[in-house]
Amino acid sequence: MNSPADRIAFLRDEINRHNRLYHLLESPEISDTEYDHLFQELVALEAAHPELATSDSPTQRVGFGPSEKFESAQHLVPMLSLDNAFGEEELRSFDDRVRRVLESENEIEYLAELKFDGASVSLVFENGRLVRAVTRGDGSSGEVVTPNILTIGSVPTQLNNAPAGLLEIRGEVLMSKAAFESVNAQRIAAGEQAFVNPRNAASGGLRQLDAKETAKRKLSFFPYGLGTGVLADSQFGVLSALNRMGFEGRDDAKLCTGVSALMEFIADVEARRATLPFGIDGVVIKVNDLGLQRQLGFTSRGPRWAIAYKFAAEQAFTTLREVSWQVGRTGVVTPVAELEPVFVGGVMVSRATLHNLEDLRKKDVRVGDTVIVQRAGDVIPEVIGPVLEKRISGAAEIDAPAHCPDCETALVKEERFVALRCPNKECPSQILAKVIHFASRKAMDIEGLGEKQVQRFLELGFITDLPSVFRLERHREQIASLEGSGEKSTQKLLDAIAEARLRPLDRVLFALGIRFVGERTAKDLARVFGSIENFRQATYAQLIEVPEIGPRTASEIESWLEEPVNQELIDGLLEGGVTPIASAEPSGDFFAGKTVVFTGKLEVFTRDQAEDWVRAFGGKAASSVSKATTLVVAGPNAGSKLDKATQLGIEVIDEAAFEELLKQARGEA
Ligand code: IVH
Repeated sequence: MNSPADRIAFLRDEINRHNRLYHLLESPEISDTEYDHLFQELVALEAAHPELATSDSPTQRVGFGPSEKFESAQHLVPMLSLDNAFGEEELRSFDDRVRRVLESENEIEYLAELKFDGASVSLVFENGRLVRAVTRGDGSSGEVVTPNILTIGSVPTQLNNAPAGLLEIRGEVLMSKAAFESVNAQRIAAGEQAFVNPRNAASGGLRQLDAKETAKRKLSFFPYGLGTGVLADSQFGVLSALNRMGFEGRDDAKLCTGVSALMEFIADVEARRATLPFGIDGVVIKVNDLGLQRQLGFTSRGPRWAIAYKFAAEQAFTTLREVSWQVGRTGVVTPVAELEPVFVGGVMVSRATLHNLEDLRKKDVRVGDTVIVQRAGDVIPEVIGPVLEKRISGAAEIDAPAHCPDCETALVKEERFVALRCPNKECPSQILAKVIHFASRKAMDIEGLGEKQVQRFLELGFITDLPSVFRLERHREQIASLEGSGEKSTQKLLDAIAEARLRPLDRVLFALGIRFVGERTAKDLARVFGSIENFRQATYAQLIEVPEIGPRTASEIESWLEEPVNQELIDGLLEGGVTPIASAEPSGDFFAGKTVVFTGKLEVFTRDQAEDWVRAFGGKAASSVSKATTLVVAGPNAGSKLDKATQLGIEVIDEAAFEELLKQARGEA
């Protein structure tokens, strides 16, 4: 076995090597989580063997020294890092330590802020004028990147009402998700390698020798604190002062007293993480009172008054074992990555989409590659690309199949849509995917008819196409006698099917599984055509008139309607008793000029339904509270949106009051 000294030496070398790969070469070979593990192991070993601790250990410094490309500058106050907490228990021990040091019986007031996932910089202002911007570097000195920072529109070069003398403002340079998408699209079009995530793109962008290159990356900056200078006596006061001085700060930060309040905020942020316009990797928790912060002080690595509560990483590295091909409901055949299972975005992932053949070719993914897997929010896990440095020689390119992996029909390649397609309408995989989609929550919402059940009914011949779902009643006894089934669950399933016959038109149109007709388009179609009879006779000219529908979708719908099998499908559904009720038609202007935000748990309506009603009566439904919001409907467990509404003095009502309003809108009250 290795001696602790050997292991420590090994870990230091490894961590230094990864620091260099990450910070200087911008091509990490391991995930953040793996890096954290190495780092934690070294911290633990050094703590257990204090005689082996050295001042040049990577645990004693932050990040990596500046590259020689840039002039370097000393930070006025060292830029330290933060300790991490990976769960409530670790947060509680942080809070215990704070209270112990402060000898406080009472709960502590913290400011909880988003932990922006980018690169930190220090901006030095002299008498209110920006004179220098410096990267974090090794914490004591960094690279001067002033011209690059000047490309970021939200960084003021002249502060409003700044105090005289030096002021050092610290914050994070980020690339928004939207900028990431558009910059990557441009890079792919230009035949360049796409960035793997916004953080690498931002930190690389910050360190371009030519500021014009930085400008192309459309970076943003969010301040989170001060190096030198005094603006207020609390962290909250500092952030507010920075906003007044001209920074475009975020208003997500929240004052929380005690750990339970912090945990509530953390859960709320984690739930919103995927919908934020930029990436975050956790929440930073800071003792709000700057006087108390001074009492707490620093260790060599970071402040005792703050901690980073980290979320599960959204990207991880793993091995691509194999590529399989999956037939979707429209016959499109897509590559699926079969992976060495890996923990990412909070769950174990062993399969991920590779999107389509063209994407796979562009990314040059090969069997046996180490790949980057991403899972953000509810989005299906995807393979971002290979880590080329880790490719083993002879890694095989992936061949496109010539025949359907299920029914063996020769596949056709659609030039227009970069897709491979199985043209056989009877292909069992296609029927399976169609029925699963048809019964899914956002379509006909048939509870109890999930993937496993559909598969079983197809195998038994109870389901052969979509209309056959409404004839399952005939197989009641056989279904009830199936393993894992019974009278009760069968009755429940049949009740759910009966209920589904009354789904609104937009859901039925979405459930049909027409290519390019997503939920939003289905709603537009339902609003304009009003009935299934009108829809089934729609012409291209009428379809293209529908706002939001472009030529590609219009012609796809037209061809779909022209196919006799599809008209028969509609007949079959109507015969099966499907009576789509017209959806919330534009029926008045009760909410005209109003912007309504729903937050917390709704009990009577789904969020979608409630928003539809607002739109049907001429209003707008928004997902976040701003000055433009006129009404907030808050259910139980409402979080930061409710706080913000209260702060802004916006009217807040509960769901029951919203129902009353709807009655008035419909003229029923
Ligand atoms: S405060 C003494 N606040 O996270 C260090 N940092 O893991 C004080 N970060 O180096 C840092 N969002 O680059 C702070 N709201 C926030 C932050 C934040 C992102 C970054 C920052 C820091 C790193 C620590």
